[in-house]
Amino acid sequence: MPSSGSRSGNRSKGAGRKRKSGGADVGSRGLHVRVKTAKRRRTSSTRWLERQLNDPYVKAAQEHGYRSRAAWKLIELDDRFRLLKKGGKVVELGAAPGGWTQVAVDRVGQGGVVVAVDIQEMEPVPGATILLGDLYELETEERIKDALGGKADVVLSDMAAPATGHKRTDHLRVIALCEAALDLADGVLAPGGAFVAKVLKGGTERELLNHMKKSFEHVHHAKPKASRADSSEEYVVATGYRRAFNEEENQ
Ligand SMILES: C[S@@+](CC[C@H](N)C(=O)[O-])C[C@H]1O[C@@H](n2cnc3c(N)ncnc32)[C@H](O)[C@@H]1O
Repeated sequence: MPSSGSRSGNRSKGAGRKRKSGGADVGSRGLHVRVKTAKRRRTSSTRWLERQLNDPYVKAAQEHGYRSRAAWKLIELDDRFRLLKKGGKVVELGAAPGGWTQVAVDRVGQGGVVVAVDIQEMEPVPGATILLGDLYELETEERIKDALGGKADVVLSDMAAPATGHKRTDHLRVIALCEAALDLADGVLAPGGAFVAKVLKGGTERELLNHMKKSFEHVHHAKPKASRADSSEEYVVATGYRRAFNEEENQ
């Protein structure tokens, strides 16, 4: 597992290219592009290419200088739940290639802190501290705490394991990542803080949900418009962090 980290402490506007600011009003626009099947291209690749070319979020991400269409999911979630405050401290899990990181840095502004973690290398995002690490390793949590330098206002997780196509396996993997993120949140969140994690539709385990309901004032499920309609992905958004689960269990 990778354990080295790289940091980029200089806070400057945007991440390389200057981005136009804006909300999540992307919608579908433009003409439908059809892709001819080339001799050496498989049908699935042609379908993927056609989907990319016709996806308004891909186009909008390019126009705004975001590294991934996923950026729009966080924009929508933040516009709805007001998670990212100016000067706030954010931990972001599963950050590569960095679309959410760009949005988080923009929204917390100059006085904020963004600690972005991924098991994969990613290009620096000015204004964010990038940590290369696996959330399942204890050492990663310590490094996150060091980089934060205090309690976090928000813990965001867009972590995903590669899909196997086996529904039950994929479900268990997503739940395990969500549990690990929640564990981390428990160690770093300030009272009143918020937690967001990717889950699969209808898939947040009862036990996990009960934990969240006890520890946060409000728990919602949300499917941003930017999340593909044919994907079972959605997000669990918990706000108003009360206290650590372990504290509660020990009483
Ligand atoms: C859907 S991508 C995140 C996209 C990102 N939010 C963006 O806007 O660009 C999911 C990420 O989760 C990361 N991931 C999966 N398991 C992880 C783990 N155990 N620890 C840290 N990152 C993990 C993957 O490497 C992958 O980059």
